[in-house]
Amino acid sequence: MIRLVLLVALLAAGTVGVRAQQLLDWSPEEISAVGQHGPWPPPPVQDPSNRVSGIAAGVVLGEHLFNEPRLSGDGRMSCATCHQAGREWSDGLAKARGAVELDRRTPSLWNIGYLHWFGWDGAGDSLWAQSIRPLLDPREMNGGPTRAGELLRNDAAFACGYEKAFGSKPGTDDERLLVDTAKALAAFQATLVSPRTPFDEFRDALVDGDRDRASRYPLAAQRGLKLFIGDANCNLCHLGPRFTSGEFGDIGIPFFVRPGVVDPGRLGGLQRLSASPFNLLGKYNDDVTASNTRRVRHVQRQHSNFGEFRVPGLRQAGRSGPYMHNGSLARIEDVVRHYSEVSPDRLHSDGTPLVRPLGLTPQQSADLVAFLRSLDAETPPRPAPAPLCP
Ligand code: HEC
Ligand code: HEC
Repeated sequence: MIRLVLLVALLAAGTVGVRAQQLLDWSPEEISAVGQHGPWPPPPVQDPSNRVSGIAAGVVLGEHLFNEPRLSGDGRMSCATCHQAGREWSDGLAKARGAVELDRRTPSLWNIGYLHWFGWDGAGDSLWAQSIRPLLDPREMNGGPTRAGELLRNDAAFACGYEKAFGSKPGTDDERLLVDTAKALAAFQATLVSPRTPFDEFRDALVDGDRDRASRYPLAAQRGLKLFIGDANCNLCHLGPRFTSGEFGDIGIPFFVRPGVVDPGRLGGLQRLSASPFNLLGKYNDDVTASNTRRVRHVQRQHSNFGEFRVPGLRQAGRSGPYMHNGSLARIEDVVRHYSEVSPDRLHSDGTPLVRPLGLTPQQSADLVAFLRSLDAETPPRPAPAPLCP
């Protein structure tokens, strides 16, 4: 009966175009849960382990380096080859393609500065350390340990840009210049903050109690959002303004790369993290108080880390598929179907299961998709970066 009344009310609203009636009932608990996903954008972050973080000259140098193919072994590949501005800082491929095809998908770099673990498996504990790997990895840019230093020393514009950012001329220590290159790259990437979306307009209106403004948000997205924070429990992992805890989870994506080869996820990431000379315990951490090393020291490998991958943020996700660490799901609709039908057998038996097959109706699936798409917005084309040395 209530449904019928609602339907009649909606039809009436539709025919006379009274949009103000298109607001579902939101309980105080729901309003508070929705409120947790904002406000947007968040204040800029500063990384104490990186002395050019948040420094304008560091950001400019970083953007030039990001687009610089001379950092690669064959002079043809830059960070921007895989992390493309026009493709939400990813590449649209299921598996990244460097010198060879990698086993993982290129993640988007939107809102990357707000994370504390980097890479699908958390093998990096700072944005700058994560930025070193592609420079050296033979499967990616294969630049070798001296390429960055040579570019900064020998190219007049880069040498000048370096001096502006770091306050001294590039020296002869190639490893330090490699790290500084990565720090400038990190300063630039931390400025990549995704735009405000229809969800943010709704969230702010709901929190402000502005029913008129809130009712502009499509009903399907409202129903999907109720599921997201309610019965579907998505916000157990996709929480906060970025829609990620920044931690790791297992949602039952197969970890076989090819027969006989598995991707151990977080378990392998922790091994690489502790072996890396560039982790925050090493000599390149610029934080004199070293307060940020607590996380690395205290992290311990556990069997349950096997097959865990970092929870991705969901802003702009509708525009940047394919999905998952291995690009195995092509469309956002396929992701929702995965959560609806996931096999409980594949999920970890230890601990409380956070993921269970939801058994969504077609209507509920469509509503969740409508909500996820409301986390997307157009971004204007990026202007050319400021000159290195005006
Ligand atoms: C060949 C394609 C390719 C190139 C070139 C490339 N990347 Fe990536 N990037 C990837 C892939 C694939 C991953 C995921 C790596 C993993 O988790 O194992 C990644 C991950 C990252 C991450 C971590 C993202 C996250 O969500 O934690 C950062 C930061 C990053 N890349 C920055 C860079 C920078 C800076 C450069 C240039 C120096 C670069 N990338 C060059 C493919 C590429
Ligand atoms: C247990 C924590 C957890 C829960 C609960 C959860 N997710 Fe996820 N989500 C993840 C992890 C981890 C990944 C990445 C998995 C991988 O790559 O193997 C992911 C990936 C995704 C992606 C793909 C993003 C991308 O860029 O590849 C979307 C979209 C998504 N989840 C939406 C949802 C929705 C909708 C729900 C609720 C129905 C939900 N998630 C519930 C942890 C979770």
